[in-house]
Amino acid sequence: MATNVKPDELNYDHYETKKYDDQIVRSIPGHEELHKHIDQLVESLPEEPKILELGVGTGLTAERILRKRPNAEYVVVDFSEQMLAGARGRLSKYDVKFVNGDYSKIGLPEDNDLVVSVISIHHQETDEDKKRLFQRIYDSIKDTGAFIFGDLVTYRNEEEAALNEARHFHHLVENAQDEDSLREWAHHHKHLNKLAPLEDQVDWLREIGFRDVEVVYRRFNTALVYAQK
Ligand SMILES: C[S@@+](CC[C@H](N)C(=O)[O-])C[C@H]1O[C@@H](n2cnc3c(N)ncnc32)[C@H](O)[C@@H]1O
Repeated sequence: MATNVKPDELNYDHYETKKYDDQIVRSIPGHEELHKHIDQLVESLPEEPKILELGVGTGLTAERILRKRPNAEYVVVDFSEQMLAGARGRLSKYDVKFVNGDYSKIGLPEDNDLVVSVISIHHQETDEDKKRLFQRIYDSIKDTGAFIFGDLVTYRNEEEAALNEARHFHHLVENAQDEDSLREWAHHHKHLNKLAPLEDQVDWLREIGFRDVEVVYRRFNTALVYAQK
């Protein structure tokens, strides 16, 4: 089995919640627009859905979904205790189960109406790791359910990949508040992110068996995919 990412190899534990919240929104091109699409996509969920979120961070995505479906049975997984502490605070008024674990290794809850993961799966080291995780996600979803997958991606075409990478890093330069933040972001995005082509990931989701796989939103290296089982 391929070596997978370890929590202490990422730098999420260095961020206290307020700093992280500010920085993730600034650093990810289209973070807000992507979430507006998620707001719309979750409108089709049942009133009391069963939802699993992988890589919850401080709960920014979860909070938006829970505003729309406050009675959801919601399980969140993250392997950073620092990030989970932020999510616990943010989501305290909802019925959320917090799991500290590596979602590529632990058993996932079954029969979900929705699995959601935003800006996290790109940390899976290899294509095989990502595919294996997609399969496990597929298996954990009800026949009528869906997967909302927002992430940083690259593209098959080399020019397209280079252009979007340039725009992504330009966005980091334009939006960092100071030199230290830029240094940290640049290191994270260059060395800790393992991007796979969007087209390949769409193909993998179709091959696994998702019936309808649609790229709902794109900005530079940020993409949102909706996969219906
Ligand atoms: C960038 S945050 C995204 C959170 C939120 N969706 C947002 O947009 O703000 C990604 C999270 O995924 C977590 N993560 C990455 N790989 C993981 C893994 N294999 N198992 C559990 N959590 C993981 C990190 O600890 C981090 O908290």
